[in-house]
Amino acid sequence: MTDLENVPYEQSRDGNRAFWDEVTPVHLQAYGVERFLEGERWLPTTILEEVGPVKGLSLLHLQCHFGLDSLAWVREGAEVTGADFSPIAIDAARELSKKADLPARFICSDIYELPHVLEDKFDILFTSIGVLCWLKDLRKWASVIAHFLKPGGFFYIMDGHPLLYTFDDEGNWKFMLSYFHKPEPYVWEGEHPDYMDPSHISYATTYEWQWTVSDIINAVLGAGLRLEFFNEFGALSDPVYPEMKPDGKGLYTFPNMPVPLPILFSLRARKED
Ligand SMILES: C[S@@+](CC[C@H](N)C(=O)[O-])C[C@H]1O[C@@H](n2cnc3c(N)ncnc32)[C@H](O)[C@@H]1O
Repeated sequence: MTDLENVPYEQSRDGNRAFWDEVTPVHLQAYGVERFLEGERWLPTTILEEVGPVKGLSLLHLQCHFGLDSLAWVREGAEVTGADFSPIAIDAARELSKKADLPARFICSDIYELPHVLEDKFDILFTSIGVLCWLKDLRKWASVIAHFLKPGGFFYIMDGHPLLYTFDDEGNWKFMLSYFHKPEPYVWEGEHPDYMDPSHISYATTYEWQWTVSDIINAVLGAGLRLEFFNEFGALSDPVYPEMKPDGKGLYTFPNMPVPLPILFSLRARKED
C-alpha cells in the first residue's frame, strides 16, 4: 500500500471501476444468490428495523453492486432504482432482476454524475456495507443524496465503522492506518484476495479514502438533512462481513477483538418538508 500524491479523480475512478468489473462475476458465485432466489429475506434484521416499512415507497440504492440488496427491497414492497458505476455489475443486476422476477430499474453511472443522468426524486436513499471507502468527496456525495430526496424523505446508511479501517486486515487488531481523512487516496497494489472468495486473487490497483465519524455526520448535516440517529454496533444479528462469527450471545462479530469495539455504524437523516 502506498500514499500517492495528486492522483487525478479519473485515475482512481477508472482503476476502481476496473476492479469492481473484475470481481462482480466472482461475487455472483460467492454471495449466496441461490438462497435469495429461493426466497431468503436477505437484508440484515437491523437494517430492516432501522429503515422501517418501505411498501409503496420509491427507493434509490446508491453503489448497488449487482443489485442483490436492491432486489431484496423490491421484495419488501419498494419501487427500486439501483445505481452503480460498474457496467458489469449493472448488467448482472438487470439479469438477476429478470431471473428473480422482481422488477427494478438499474442505472450505470458514477455516483457524482448521477444527478445529470437521473431526473426522479425518491422517498428513500439507501446505501450499505463497503461504500464510503470508495468515495473521494463526502460533501459532494451528501449533496447528491440531498438532491435526490423528496421533501420529507430520508437517507439511510449502514457501513463499516471508521475505526475498523485503522486496523490491519490480517485480524491481528494492530493499528495500521490513521483514523483521520486525508485528500490523497490509499493506493492498494499487488495481490489482494477477494473478501468473499479468497481463492480469487485480484491484481487491480484500487484507491480508497478514510472518513471519520465527524466527516460523515458533518457531510450529511452540511447538505441540509436533519440527523435522526447515528448508531454504533460491536455485533449484529447478521454476519454482514464474511469474517464475522457467532459471539455466543446470538449475534455475530469479529473474532479476537482485544476489547469490544464499534465495527459498524448506521445513520438516518431526513430532508425537511
Ligand atoms: C462493496 S460494494 C457495495 C456492496 C453492497 N453492499 C453489496 O454487498 O451488494 C461497493 C460498490 O460501490 C461501487 N462504486 C464504487 N465507487 C463508485 C462510484 N464512484 N460511483 C458509483 N459506484 C461506485 C462499486 O462498483 C461496488 O459495486
